[in-house]
Amino acid sequence: MANKFKPISISLSPNVQKDDVALAWKLLFQPWKWKQGNAIKKLEEDFKKYLGVKYAVSFNSGRSSLYAILKALNLPKESKVGLQAFTCNAVPNPILWAGLNPVYIDCANDFNIDTNKIPNNLSALIVQHTFGLPADTQEIQQTYQGIIIEDFAHTLGKDIKVFGDAAFFSFSRDKVISCVYGGMAVTNNPEIAEKLAETQKEFGMPGLFWIKQQILHPLLLHHIILPLYHFIDLGKLFLIASQWLHVLSKAVSWQEKRGLKPDYFPKALPNAQALMALNQFKKLDNFNNHRKNIAEFYFKELVNTQFVLPKNDGIFLRFAVQHPKAHEILYEAWHQQNMLLGDWYRSPVDPRDTQLPELKYEKGMCQNAERLSKITLNLPTHINISLGRSPATGEATQDAQRIVNFLKKWS
Ligand SMILES: Cc1ncc(COP(=O)(O)O)c(C=O)c1O
Repeated sequence: MANKFKPISISLSPNVQKDDVALAWKLLFQPWKWKQGNAIKKLEEDFKKYLGVKYAVSFNSGRSSLYAILKALNLPKESKVGLQAFTCNAVPNPILWAGLNPVYIDCANDFNIDTNKIPNNLSALIVQHTFGLPADTQEIQQTYQGIIIEDFAHTLGKDIKVFGDAAFFSFSRDKVISCVYGGMAVTNNPEIAEKLAETQKEFGMPGLFWIKQQILHPLLLHHIILPLYHFIDLGKLFLIASQWLHVLSKAVSWQEKRGLKPDYFPKALPNAQALMALNQFKKLDNFNNHRKNIAEFYFKELVNTQFVLPKNDGIFLRFAVQHPKAHEILYEAWHQQNMLLGDWYRSPVDPRDTQLPELKYEKGMCQNAERLSKITLNLPTHINISLGRSPATGEATQDAQRIVNFLKKWS
C-alpha cells in the first residue's frame, strides 16, 4: 500500500548524497582499486592532521579498531576491561574476542558512563561518547588512573580532543561519516602505534566479495530501497532479502549477537572504503553544522514538553530524548507517518536480540541503562533531513518540522 508521507529515516545510509552514489558507481567498475591504493594512507594522514594526533591506523570497522587496540595493549588473558552499559554489542565483542573480561558499568542520565561507579580493579576502561555527547573526561581522570580507550564511534569533529591512551572511530553506515563499514584507531603512544601497524598487516584485507557488498550498499539504498519506503514494507522487505541473499552486509551478524566473531572481522580497511570515507570526510564540517542546526531546532520546539532533552553539547549524531511512551511513539511514527526514528539503545547491550548472558551481561547489572533503554528514542539530524517550513505555503513539508509536529501530540 502506498503511503501518503515521504519516508524519513534515521538509519538507512543517512549521510549518502549524490556524489557518494556517483563514486560508488565508479568504484563498482574499477575492481583493481578495491583492495590496495593511495587512499588508505591519505585517509590516515588526513585523520592525524584533523585530530592533531601522532598516529592513525585504519581498519574495516570500529570493532576491528577496538580489537586491534586491545591486542596492542597486550593485557594478560581474562583481564577486566570496563565499558558502560547502554552500548552496542560491537563494544563488548572485541573484548571477548581478545580473551578478556567485559565489566559493565552503569550509565548516568546523560547516556555516558556514571563516573561514580567505575571500579578500581580494571586493566583498562573504554569511555564512550554516546550520541556524540561528550563524556566528562576530567571527572573520569579524577576517579580512574589506568589505561583509557576512548570510543568515538558516535563522534568526530573539530572540537574532539583525544585524551585516552588510544581511541577509535567508526565509519559504519549510520555514523558521523560513512563508508558502510570502516574505522580508525588513533594514539599518541609510539609503542601502541607500532603494534597497531603490525596488527593491520597481520589482519589483512577483507575479500573482494565483502568489498563489493559495501560498494553496492549506497547504490541499492539510493536507487531502490529508499524509494520503495514510500510503500511501507516493500523497502524493508527488499533490504532484508538483499541481506539474506548476501548482496548487502548486515550491520550486526548473528554471530555477534552471541559473542562470536564473523570471519570478516577484524580486517584492515580496503582502498575502496577509504575512497568512500575520504569523500565523506571532506564534507564532515558541513555535516556537523547541519546536525547542530537541526538540534537547535529540536531544542527550541521541544522545550517545556514531556520530552526530556539531552545536554546541549557535542555533535548530536542523533538527538536523543526520553519519554515514558518512547516505544509507542516509535511504533506510531513508523506505522502512521512513515518516519523511521531511532531506538538506540533498546537494550543495555544492543541490538535487543543480543544474547545478553553470552555477552556476559546479567539482567539487573546496570539498572539505569535498563531504565533508559525503555524510555529513549532518537531523532535524526543527518544531512538529508531538511529543516523548516515550506516557504511557499508555510506548511510543515520539511522533515524536522514534520517530526516535531508529530511529537507535539505526545508533549
Ligand atoms: C558506541 C559504539 N561503539 C562502537 C561501535 C562499533 O563501530 P563499528 O560499527 O564501526 O564496528 C558502535 C557501532 O556499531 C557503537 O554504537
